[in-house]
Amino acid sequence: MTIGILKETQKGERRVAITPSIVKQLIAKGFKVVVEEDAGANSKYKNANYTKAGASIQNKPEIFKNADVLIKINPFNEDELKKLRKGQIIFAQLFHKSHPEAINLIAKQGATAFSLDAMPRISRAQDMDVLSSQNNLAGYKAVILGAYEMTKIFPLMMTAAGTITPSRVLIYGVGVAGLQAIATAKRLGAIVEATDIRSETKEQTESLGAKFITVDNDGEESEGGYAKVASKEYVLRQKEAVDKSLFNADLVITTAMVPGRRSPVLITEEQVKQMKNGAVIIDLAAAQGGNCELSKLNKTIRKYGVKIIGTTIAPESVSTNASDLFAKNMFNFLLHLTENNEFKWQLEEQITDETLIVFNGKIRQNGKTE
Ligand code: NAI
Repeated sequence: MTIGILKETQKGERRVAITPSIVKQLIAKGFKVVVEEDAGANSKYKNANYTKAGASIQNKPEIFKNADVLIKINPFNEDELKKLRKGQIIFAQLFHKSHPEAINLIAKQGATAFSLDAMPRISRAQDMDVLSSQNNLAGYKAVILGAYEMTKIFPLMMTAAGTITPSRVLIYGVGVAGLQAIATAKRLGAIVEATDIRSETKEQTESLGAKFITVDNDGEESEGGYAKVASKEYVLRQKEAVDKSLFNADLVITTAMVPGRRSPVLITEEQVKQMKNGAVIIDLAAAQGGNCELSKLNKTIRKYGVKIIGTTIAPESVSTNASDLFAKNMFNFLLHLTENNEFKWQLEEQITDETLIVFNGKIRQNGKTE
């Protein structure tokens, strides 16, 4: 089976789906690998690194012609989808629920598609979960960006000139990104507090040495590992419980998301007004509308003495690590789906069932939009 690695086309994207060390491992398993020219150039991997690992470098039309399986990180664009052959198998983050037109086109071409962002949140899928591996890096980078934008340092420092008190960091949303943000801010010496709608995150927060701010929640909180939409009552209780910490915080990192929905507004303009002068908010949910009422994607807003940075801290900003982890996830996923270089097509198996969106030109139940 020939696996084709395509160069990412999305603006600003610096990652590559498969790295040379994974090429080597795939070849050892009996696969052939073809890589598009300069596919790894922005994440430190040169064409020569791939050829040394055993891949051959080809141009895009050749890859589309020769590969049985095509792998990308970002969704295939329309031009690429139109090039698909009947029976060809593609892997990418397809975000199929919000891109029905792409799914229809894949089906029309008679191809098969796996969506990497549809990976179920079960233990045995953890090493194939690209959302986790990439969000983890985003959580780390958010703290580094915050540290850079603040006018204070993180740790307690006793000097001859006086004592510097540690910064206070508040994190909304203790998912993958939030947990890594807590760990990173703690390592840098800050006093860290965090809150989440899912009560199981209390223990996770405390295990990292941070304080958890509990908000009473009498309803159902999660579904398949993800949060459900918070009730109006919860939003009010959350404000009451968190406001004191928010108004004392030097850095606030927000990561709260609800899959397939606009991200919840957790910090209103009224609350921003009461924050400390010089405080920084890094809103990682900005692409989904933002957790702060004032944030705008890829913009820094300065209001009431607070700097509000709306970003995704896309993993391309750490493209080397992000590509390495993505590639390892892909390798594990391919091994899970195949045996002796043939796809097993165990359609009832949960990971296959949930990630396989189009099969031989037919949109499966998972791929149907609401
Ligand atoms: P996410 O990116 O969808 O959301 C981030 C966090 O925001 C979540 O913890 C969520 O509970 C929280 N949130 C949502 N609405 C909120 C509100 N109104 N107020 C406060 N917090 C709110 O979540 P992510 O990072 O993708 O992870 C969700 C869970 O899935 C985590 O427990 C994670 O450990 C688990 N997970 C499990 C995997 C596996 O077992 N294979 C793989 C990846 C994640």
